[in-house]
Amino acid sequence: MSTDDAAKPLRAKRSGPLTGTIRPPGDKSISHRALMLGALAVGETAIDGLLEGDDVLATAAAMRAFGATVTRTGAGAWRVAGLGVGGLLEPEHVIDYGNAGTGVRLAMGIAGSHSFASTFTGDVSLVGRPMGRVFEPLRRMGVQVLARAGDKLPATIKGPDALIPIEFRLSVPSAQVKSAVLLAALNSPGVTTIIEPTPTRDHTERMLTAFGAAIAIDTGEDGARLITLEGGQTLKPQVIVVPSDPSSAAFTVVAALIVEGSDVTIENVLLNPTRTGLIETLMEMGADITIANRRAVGGEEVGEIRIRASRLKGVTVPASRAPSMIDEYPVLAVAAAFAEGDTLMEGIGEMRFKESDRVAAVAAGLKANGIAAEDGPESLLVHGSAKVEGGGNVETRLDHRIAMSFLVLGLASEKPVTVDDARTIATSYPEFRNLMSGLGAKFAEADGD
Ligand code: S3P
Repeated sequence: MSTDDAAKPLRAKRSGPLTGTIRPPGDKSISHRALMLGALAVGETAIDGLLEGDDVLATAAAMRAFGATVTRTGAGAWRVAGLGVGGLLEPEHVIDYGNAGTGVRLAMGIAGSHSFASTFTGDVSLVGRPMGRVFEPLRRMGVQVLARAGDKLPATIKGPDALIPIEFRLSVPSAQVKSAVLLAALNSPGVTTIIEPTPTRDHTERMLTAFGAAIAIDTGEDGARLITLEGGQTLKPQVIVVPSDPSSAAFTVVAALIVEGSDVTIENVLLNPTRTGLIETLMEMGADITIANRRAVGGEEVGEIRIRASRLKGVTVPASRAPSMIDEYPVLAVAAAFAEGDTLMEGIGEMRFKESDRVAAVAAGLKANGIAAEDGPESLLVHGSAKVEGGGNVETRLDHRIAMSFLVLGLASEKPVTVDDARTIATSYPEFRNLMSGLGAKFAEADGD
């Protein structure tokens, strides 16, 4: 998406019962990693169900810029001919990662393990986001980083001839930081250990294991996760089947709960326990959600989720749950708006460093629609009510999840809700409008009726 083009406002209107079955597109986290590990393997990796959103397409372009052959052979079907760990080539151009924080942070880890210079940039949202959290461990590994003031993009990364293996304790619970260090460590002569006091999504660890890398996961004395990886291993190409993204499914889950009379099934959803915090929270709120047909697909658990409209009640969401639902708080806030009583979300400071400051964006969006909310540095309190007025214009701040969350709000509020720009939805969930409309959701261009 070019942010120079005109914004595209979109409106959601109160809808009748949502019914039917959908299969949302592939998981974004797994899609990025499949392309990257494919580029680092020796031989051809086949990927099925890849998310073809702008963020992941930026990773496909980046891996091509690093010399891997990346081809699309059908809808969601991709092949990556990799060059091996440490075998990537110097990109000829600046790599523009658009809106994709995960993509750029992981790719900078890979770039740091090569002794050539590569330069990364992004859109106005991405160049405002903190990159020091990734640069700090990379610098300790001997990587040279030249970045804008405050360790912001654009940045140029140049690895040393031999990376220094490190012991690294994560100071922020971030799977992106953990993954950037692991991807760099693949090409270092020795053992890197990552200490993770609060477990975060573990797709990199699982996928590295699938690609044949020896990676050990233990529990330290203080209960922290210890991840050890020996550098210099060869990755073997794989066939990867990407399950549906639970962070995209989340919008449909909440919509089906708040739109009266709804009964929706979502197929093939990733149920990795590091990603199911929203479902757990909604069930505590009284949601009628059932999970069926749990099975393992390519080292990840998947299943079918059935959601029926429910009367929700407010809860306190503990800080310890934040990593397993960090991207889902905006849509949880929408569910909370329709719940009886207050919902308090604690320990959510990391939300302020996403595509936008999501705590502020959500609080402002709720208030614009007549819902009382109070945000603190690390928390958000939503005062729920059975009847939500709506009628607001929501500033989405180049943030796809803010756009989709407030469109969901509009499906059950008294008056339509308008988001100022729906273009960013294409970064993670290009099919959002079509799939939701197929279930009965009513959207209209904001200047239409
Ligand atoms: C992601 C990790 C999370 C999440 C992001 C995807 C990943 O970010 O918000 O959407 O794929 O590793 P942090 O690791 O910065 O919390």
